[in-house]
Amino acid sequence: MADLNLRPKFHITGGNGWINDPNGLIKFGGEYHVFFQYYPDGVSWGPMHWGHVVSNDLTHWKRLPVALAPDAQDDGCFSGTAIVWQNKLWLMYTSFKENGGGENVRQLQAVASSEDGVNFTKHGIVIGENDLPAEYSPCDFRDPKIFAEGETLYCLVAARRRGGTGRILLFSSKDMFNWKFESDVTGRDSGGIMIECPDYNRKLGLLTYCEQFQPARGSEHLNIHSTFYRLGTLDCKGHKNTFGESRIIDYGFDFYAEQMFEDEPVMIGWLNMWDRNVPSQKYGFAGMLTVPRRLEVRDGELRQSPIVSADKVYEKEVCGSLTDNIKIGVVRINAKNLKAFDLRLRKKGDAYTGFYLKDGQWIFDRSRSGEKIDGKESDADSLAGIRRMPSDGCAETEITVVLDEFSVEIFVNGKALSSTVYPDTDADGLELKVKADKCTVSRFEVVGACHD
Ligand code: FRU
Repeated sequence: MADLNLRPKFHITGGNGWINDPNGLIKFGGEYHVFFQYYPDGVSWGPMHWGHVVSNDLTHWKRLPVALAPDAQDDGCFSGTAIVWQNKLWLMYTSFKENGGGENVRQLQAVASSEDGVNFTKHGIVIGENDLPAEYSPCDFRDPKIFAEGETLYCLVAARRRGGTGRILLFSSKDMFNWKFESDVTGRDSGGIMIECPDYNRKLGLLTYCEQFQPARGSEHLNIHSTFYRLGTLDCKGHKNTFGESRIIDYGFDFYAEQMFEDEPVMIGWLNMWDRNVPSQKYGFAGMLTVPRRLEVRDGELRQSPIVSADKVYEKEVCGSLTDNIKIGVVRINAKNLKAFDLRLRKKGDAYTGFYLKDGQWIFDRSRSGEKIDGKESDADSLAGIRRMPSDGCAETEITVVLDEFSVEIFVNGKALSSTVYPDTDADGLELKVKADKCTVSRFEVVGACHD
């Protein structure tokens, strides 16, 4: 009999029901606000609400009432972002209208505002069909990212070119209610059929976005729905954007629809994936968000480090091997001149989740993790439960493993690999075999980060 109370300890979920994308990440009234795509009445995707949690420290979350819900105006409140403007908290989201489906679907941009950061008033559609140049389809026009530069408000929105694929469009406004099309930021069709959830952090010069049904790009990029970043400058006025090549944000099976806080280089993603079975549905919930990750750009690459409030349990030097029992918590491994590495997590009998170094690549293996997760991917790695991440081959390697109920997030020198896993609920063995000039292992216990 499934334990209906089983939930991640410190990852944001909807409590009950389904969640997908994080939305509206912002600091307001001294607190960090995280909203998310939420369907409270079932464990599959349904009419989208915005769930809402707040925190003082990005690790202890408190649940607030649903911020946005479907009504006569919106059949669903799709993804979007937040801004503090004229002392109020504004949410800009995609108002979804089914209209009988197919070409009649409408995805247009709407706003809502709040003075207290808890109760929101909808103000209706502000970027409508007539504001969208005719070459783009209002059926696939979504996920606004709002920001301000001086007195001007700007907004990036994902769109699909009629007869083409995904683009990111820029709009501007002086008053939140009247918006003008500025430019097509990407200027070329995406590899996937549609772009979703564009975001831009000006301090880092970091553009992030997702592509739906993206063709595989080598063995490190096999998820058909993928997340990317490009470094460069968004030129709101001159339309001279300088974005470099696109790179993968997270090498795992389950990372999508990421978003960054407006004022801090901190990112949260959806720790799940479209088009896969979700074994946690039997516990009454589906979907969770990643832990917040602090971002920096180092050596021309995006680096991520998890933010988890945790107390150190031990730190020891390891010669050759280590065994332990840990189901939920954080393990950090620092190695000098790493030559071999084999880590088994959530081990019980022959079942475990593996992470090892082989031929200059990090390999994540969930083939023996427990309940099987099937997706639409049909390549050999995906079918075998494998994901790969390049190894920098640095003299110093820092590996941080964040373990919670149903998930493993691994960070190696700032590169991330996140996946869900469904082992036996009491599987807690850890086995490490390592060859290095020196290796230190630290174990941390996560302190009271529950959010209900
Ligand atoms: C991304 C996405 C968004 C959309 C939302 C709907 O996962 O498809 O494009 O706004 O989910 O829930």
